Amino acid sequence: MRSIIVLFFIISLSSVKGQTTQPPNYSCSENNASIQFTLSSSAHSAWNSTANCALQQCNTSLNDNNNCRSSSTPCYDYRTINNISYCALGILCSILERCNNITQTCSSNNSVCVINSCCSPQAVCLPFLAIQMCNTGWLYTRDMNDARAYHTASRLSSGIVLVTGGWGDTGHLNSAELYDPSIGTWATTSNMNNARYYHTASVLSNGNVLVTGGANGNILNSAELYDPSTGTWTPTGNMTNARGFHKASVLSNGKVLVTGGVDDNGNILNSAELYDPSTSTWTTTASELSNGLVLVTGGALINNRVLNSAELYDPSTGIWTTTGSMTWTRYSHTASVLSNAKVLVAGGGADTFGTCISSAELYDPLTSTWTATSHLHDARYHHTASVLSNGKVLVTGGVDISTLFSNITELY
Ligand SMILES: *[C@@H]1O[C@H](CO)[C@@H](O)[C@H](O)[C@H]1NC(C)=O
Ligand SMILES: *[C@@H]1O[C@H](CO)[C@@H](O)[C@H](O)[C@H]1NC(C)=O
Ligand SMILES: *[C@@H]1O[C@H](CO)[C@@H](O)[C@H](O)[C@H]1NC(C)=O
Ligand SMILES: *[C@@H]1O[C@H](CO)[C@@H](O)[C@H](O)[C@H]1NC(C)=O
Ligand SMILES: *[C@@H]1O[C@H](CO)[C@@H](O)[C@H](O)[C@H]1NC(C)=O
Ligand SMILES: *[C@@H]1O[C@H](CO)[C@@H](O)[C@H](O)[C@H]1NC(C)=O
Ligand SMILES: *[C@@H]1O[C@H](CO)[C@@H](O)[C@H](O)[C@H]1NC(C)=O
Ligand SMILES: *[C@@H]1O[C@H](CO)[C@@H](O)[C@H](O)[C@H]1NC(C)=O
Ligand SMILES: *[C@@H]1O[C@H](CO)[C@@H](O)[C@H](O)[C@H]1NC(C)=O
Repeated sequence: MRSIIVLFFIISLSSVKGQTTQPPNYSCSENNASIQFTLSSSAHSAWNSTANCALQQCNTSLNDNNNCRSSSTPCYDYRTINNISYCALGILCSILERCNNITQTCSSNNSVCVINSCCSPQAVCLPFLAIQMCNTGWLYTRDMNDARAYHTASRLSSGIVLVTGGWGDTGHLNSAELYDPSIGTWATTSNMNNARYYHTASVLSNGNVLVTGGANGNILNSAELYDPSTGTWTPTGNMTNARGFHKASVLSNGKVLVTGGVDDNGNILNSAELYDPSTSTWTTTASELSNGLVLVTGGALINNRVLNSAELYDPSTGIWTTTGSMTWTRYSHTASVLSNAKVLVAGGGADTFGTCISSAELYDPLTSTWTATSHLHDARYHHTASVLSNGKVLVTGGVDISTLFSNITELY
């Protein structure tokens, strides 16, 4: 059993000066801890000017990487003995451990010693968890065990993310690993039967994951199933066509539609086939796609239409409509539909020389406009992005300037 530490931080609003709207109660969990912020009528020193408070409320400007980000509760700029700035929520000081008053350190490595916390004349240990609460934008989380690009990432029904295959330092990979968002760690699971990259992975309605095609020297027609309850891979029916760079979509009837891609002779396919999980077989089907590659260039599906750079593609009519332009030109980026219905586009290649970029931007389907958001810490392309059940976006691996194949993982 995972131990759950529950910290109750009481935020007072009665003594907030110049604040007109009350933020709602706020709770969230990071790593193993759940933290709940509760409104209270008792006084809080962070807002008490007579308590010699030196805190500045965070600047929520999105263009300044060194500043605190917007948050659903007010956050403050705390400074440590080394004058390092951390953003953290206003918190009830009495629950914080005091720092060692000689070494100015905390007994836990999961805390930072803050001198001018406004809590007390003595320095207090602020848990990193409380610091992360205040950030939006990108945060590093643990590295994957294998550096990889051209891989897949799928959110399982448990909320855990399954990463499969790709290309790494040793070439094409058959390895797979699992990210647990509740503890922020990676664990290996069994290897696929085939190494593959430029493949697809789809979560079926029974919870299993169907992996299809891809490349590992040849373009593959094989497919295999991952069972999360046993952590094992089993081969399933072969596709009619070998396909790599293709696209797979789970239909509402539970079947999987595989479209486009390239075959072993380098031909671009416009054909499509359907996988029936109840019989483990494939049947060819008609496809209205004019170009099988259209769907794999990093597009996001919005109301069954594909957002790709500055155009929306409607597969039912085959019609492209222009929409607002992205701020940065990019390819092999990711596009994720967030819970607020905006689309987060991150990273990508900028030119044919393989220069990759860290910029990220948000597309608002209501206004058809793009807005810059904070940059990834690491520029990359051929990475993955998965929307987690807590609303955050997990970005994994890809090709990055410094290390080539990356094991670096970030959360938005
Ligand atoms: C979370 O709990 C697990 C299991 O108790 C432990 O192995 C892990 O180190 C903990 N993680 C953190 C960040 O405390
Ligand atoms: C916040 O939480 C407290 C304690 O659980 C509760 O009494 C209060 O009604 C909540 N306020 C809002 C706005 O949800
Ligand atoms: C501000 O803090 C001082 C010292 O801690 C306390 O005496 C005073 O009551 C506080 N004022 C408010 C409005 O909370
Ligand atoms: C917040 O930061 C931005 C960009 O760094 C700056 O232009 C703006 O003046 C700052 N706002 C405040 C209130 O400090
Ligand atoms: C701490 O950092 C801030 C902002 O970077 C700076 O304005 C201030 O002078 C620094 N204070 C000390 C004591 O170095
Ligand atoms: C430091 O802490 C110790 C134990 O908590 C206390 O006895 C001592 O008076 C403190 N020293 C100062 C300078 O605050
Ligand atoms: C904290 O980290 C340091 C160095 O990384 C290590 O020596 C020390 O044992 C750690 N302390 C705790 C309580 O984990
Ligand atoms: C991630 O890759 C770096 C080298 O790029 C390596 O130093 C580090 O140990 C790797 N992390 C894991 C968890 O394997
Ligand atoms: C699937 O295709 C591979 C060659 O790609 C072949 O070796 C294998 O026997 C086929 N499996 C079935 C069940 O047809």
